[in-house]
Amino acid sequence: MIEFAGRTAFVTGGANGIGIGLVRALLAEGCNVAIADIRQESIDRALASLSGQRVMGVQVDVSSRTAMAEAADAVEARFGPVSLLFNNAGINLFQTIEASSYDDWDWVMGVNLHGPINGVMTFVPRMIKAGLGGYIVNTASMAAFLAAGMPGIYNTTKFAVRGMSESLRASLAQHKIGVSVLCPGLVKSYIYASNEIRPEALQGGAKPVDKEWVQRLAEIHEFGMEPDVIAARVLEAMREHRFYIFSHPEFKDELREVFDEVIDDFRDYPADPGHDMRTGFEKTRRESYRQQRRGLRAK
Ligand SMILES: NC(=O)c1ccc[n+]([C@@H]2O[C@H](COP(=O)([O-])OP(=O)(O)OC[C@H]3O[C@@H](n4cnc5c(N)ncnc54)[C@H](O)[C@@H]3O)[C@@H](O)[C@H]2O)c1
Repeated sequence: MIEFAGRTAFVTGGANGIGIGLVRALLAEGCNVAIADIRQESIDRALASLSGQRVMGVQVDVSSRTAMAEAADAVEARFGPVSLLFNNAGINLFQTIEASSYDDWDWVMGVNLHGPINGVMTFVPRMIKAGLGGYIVNTASMAAFLAAGMPGIYNTTKFAVRGMSESLRASLAQHKIGVSVLCPGLVKSYIYASNEIRPEALQGGAKPVDKEWVQRLAEIHEFGMEPDVIAARVLEAMREHRFYIFSHPEFKDELREVFDEVIDDFRDYPADPGHDMRTGFEKTRRESYRQQRRGLRAK
């Protein structure tokens, strides 16, 4: 079971929403915590609300590889090796794919997918080298399973984060680094204001902001789940080494319905010429994947 006290945690998007909930929970466990966020004023506000020497802020854009490496250096210089990584920073863009531009793709993919990729590429080699084991939690969403037409690019990124997390969990087990994917429903957060931090260079293809819609989203997020509740569920899942962190139990039935529909789309076609050779090969792969899953669940 993962021990938290004394470890150093790096929480991206740590200044608001789920991130600040995680920061508070990790501090309460005796971790050193780095709040890594693009909004300096939010970092300052977060730091002012927290006491003690175990927390620091680092301004970083997770979509930048070099900025992530520099942030990692700054945190490790103060607190020592990071062994708990929370790739949590994210933005949303509430529109369909056909209404989106390449700038929209670059922005949302940059933060929501390349952010976690950069977190993994920056910290995993350091974590392996430090030999302390540890844990990575990637924040996806229920949108990693449920893809309505809107928000199309967001859904794409969250499906990808889920896939990356599952592969990583399998390959990092030998280094005693656990991996989980957090899949929340609605959160009491600030994500509706994402447009505020859209980079200048990616503004060209942006649609004008619909202020009424943003106001409506702000009202909806008010009854989202409290970040502290989510953070407690995340730490509990890490202790249990549980891969999927479904903070919002109300989605269980819907997910079952969706999975049933996925299975319903299979057809019992007659065997094609390569069928027997192929299924022979697949039998080995399937058994090894099953063993891997069982081994990981038992940890
Ligand atoms: N809000 C929801 O209802 C909801 C639901 C499911 C999943 N999520 C996911 O939860 C995660 C956290 O979001 P939240 O809802 O707490 O939102 P939030 O806006 O309250 O917090 C996200 C934080 O990430 C920071 N951030 C944004 N872009 C960044 C960048 N490029 N580099 C560094 N920091 C950056 C923001 O400044 C902000 O402090 C996201 O990945 C989001 O997709 C949110």
